[in-house]
Amino acid sequence: MTAQLIDGNALSHQLRSDVAARAAALKARGVTPGLAVVLVGDNPASQVYVRNKVKACADAGLHSVLEKHDAGLSEAALLARVDALNNDPTIHGILVQLPLPPHIDAQKVIEAISPAKDVDGFHIASAGALMTGMPGFWPCTPYGCMKMLDSIGYDLRGKHAVVIGRSNIVGKPMALMLLQKNATVTICHSGTKDLKALTLQADVVVAAVGKRNVLTADMVKPGAVVLDVGMNRNDEGKLCGDVDFAGVSAVASHITPVPGGVGPMTITMLLVNTLEAAERSAGLRL
Ligand code: GUN
Repeated sequence: MTAQLIDGNALSHQLRSDVAARAAALKARGVTPGLAVVLVGDNPASQVYVRNKVKACADAGLHSVLEKHDAGLSEAALLARVDALNNDPTIHGILVQLPLPPHIDAQKVIEAISPAKDVDGFHIASAGALMTGMPGFWPCTPYGCMKMLDSIGYDLRGKHAVVIGRSNIVGKPMALMLLQKNATVTICHSGTKDLKALTLQADVVVAAVGKRNVLTADMVKPGAVVLDVGMNRNDEGKLCGDVDFAGVSAVASHITPVPGGVGPMTITMLLVNTLEAAERSAGLRL
């Protein structure tokens, strides 16, 4: 079998066009969706990420503000900025880029963001909403993975989904989203005894560990769908995921490439969440 690619760039293009159209409709009613991106310090990867987020907003017709603070900003000063943004009616979504410098308690800052503006979906209220099936913001990367499964018309009911990785940002919310769609879900992690025995039973595998070759061809059931959330460098310095792409492509029915798979979907879902935050503030949705 040669797996079909799930193209994250193409799907992002479609979804971002839809965001742009809905943003234009909202603007016509006097509300321009607005995102505030807060960066503390000069982490080079974070600088690239925030630049991409701001550019994606501009391309979709969303208003955005990039606040850059030096690494010495105090926790109290950052909390005061979050409070100001919570009360700013032109801002519908607030994203504080992680990691934060070590003298700042990141969880405290996340909990200071109003849940109504928590477009990252990292607030405990957002996590609780996801867990209980209530309306709320879903973390962007696993939400993007769900859109990728939708895009191939995949029905998760009764399927076995194996998530490799248990982070608060990807693994755990991913498992809850798959469960909500009636999959039987197994979460695997560094303490899992026989990973291969579990992945061989999986109809869907999501690899979200941050380590190359976590999933190889011998670990995949023929016809399985494989989503690769990893973002690593190989020995030649080229971007690669957690999945042995060449090997697994020969066994899976569908696979996401790296780059051009899950990666672009994360920013796309940030735009979707920001738009929805603005729609909620305008009373247009729950
Ligand atoms: N750092 C790396 N990824 C993310 C993300 O999705 N959101 C935030 N806030 N920080 C990050």
